[in-house]
Amino acid sequence: MTQKVRKSKIFGKKRKKVAKLLLRNIKECNFAFDNVCLLQIIRKRKMNQVSDRLAAMSPSATLAMSQKSSELKAQGVDVINLSVGEPDFTTPTHIKEAAKKAIDDNFSFYSPVTGYATLRNAICQKLKKENNLEFTPDQIVCSNGAKQSVCNVILSIISKGDEVIVPAPYWVSYIEMVKLAEGTNVIVEAGLDQNFKITAEQLEKAITPKTKGLILCSPSNPTGAVYSKSELEALAKVIEKHPNIIVIADEIYEHINYVGKHESIAQFESIRDRVVIINGVSKGYAMTGWRLGWIAAPLWIAKACSKLQGQYTSGPSSIAQKAAEAAYLGEQACVETMRQAFERRRDLVISLVKEIKGLKVSIPDGAFYVFPECNSFFGKKTPKGDVIANANDLAMYILMEGHVACVSGDAFGDKNCIRMSYATSEENIKEAFRRIKECLDAIK
Ligand SMILES: Cc1ncc(COP(=O)(O)O)c(C=O)c1O
Repeated sequence: MTQKVRKSKIFGKKRKKVAKLLLRNIKECNFAFDNVCLLQIIRKRKMNQVSDRLAAMSPSATLAMSQKSSELKAQGVDVINLSVGEPDFTTPTHIKEAAKKAIDDNFSFYSPVTGYATLRNAICQKLKKENNLEFTPDQIVCSNGAKQSVCNVILSIISKGDEVIVPAPYWVSYIEMVKLAEGTNVIVEAGLDQNFKITAEQLEKAITPKTKGLILCSPSNPTGAVYSKSELEALAKVIEKHPNIIVIADEIYEHINYVGKHESIAQFESIRDRVVIINGVSKGYAMTGWRLGWIAAPLWIAKACSKLQGQYTSGPSSIAQKAAEAAYLGEQACVETMRQAFERRRDLVISLVKEIKGLKVSIPDGAFYVFPECNSFFGKKTPKGDVIANANDLAMYILMEGHVACVSGDAFGDKNCIRMSYATSEENIKEAFRRIKECLDAIK
């Protein structure tokens, strides 16, 4: 009976058409069009089908470029990788020592879902001391990196159809996470002419009754742009008028800042109960592999994230937590030493980019990326006669001919730019930009 129903439903009149369609992609298949085989094919195809949610997601472009350059390296090509998003420094010694001690002291058991109270206390102390912000430990949720923290928040507050305002250029993962939550990305573009920062007017225009969130990244990946206190205040004044909006303030690059003091949008009292700070130890303490991030959030959001995390990853690594505790409570000179090195490299990179005809750059105030505009090369030809149609072509040309890996701005929501990371030695930077200049000078 079941078989009969299936037969009439699936094969009915369109039996041959369906069969042809299915067989088109399975070249070696020589099946007769009998129902049993068709059912087998259909079952097989269903088995290999990922969920609609995942199918809608794009893979990480930055990881893809890193992989491509690793492949070339494995073939013996001397590739300089400017596509990376992590400090090249090693984790400071006192932090590593704390982790070793944690192992010896048997921190080998599950921790609370939101992280050890001692770590959450240390984070509250950091927020008070560095940001003059009062938080209690129950407002802190520690996760396996800031990436998970952002995703936790988005999945916790965004429902199907909710709109999330994402200023472009954006960090690649934001829009994929919003899609995962079945929310709608509302992209607000801020190009080089406005130093990659959105204005209060642009924000106001993008808000609708469906707006639930705004993701603000400062210092920014990919542009290095840093919002000043007055720019943040102007945005806060807009948000103040819309009580449904939650601000997700990604401050993971807080410590890699060349303007003196980091400014958080959470400092404005009128919206304070609607700001979630995202942060962690990955960038400022050179601990990307340890996987430790956190949120400081209104209590209801912290509880929601804890509930979510409790069902799929639990608390982060116990050892990484003890290392992060040492990072926040220990001496901070290491952070400043790395920051100064990044600032020297920033200055070097800017001077080298300026020597390349056709690239236009704004001076980044933070993070470790430059994001020059490169559209003057579009439509021109390489020495081999290939046309550079877009930033993807340009990034690929620089990789294949110059052996320098950069990432096309396309992935970050700006088709006219290319992202170059300077989280590498001054020697590498000099050689990389010598090669890039040679490649770009050859485009006619
Ligand atoms: C803007 C931004 N937010 C969050 C993250 C994630 O940081 P973590 O390594 O702590 O997950 C990154 C990492 O590249 C980033 O660039």
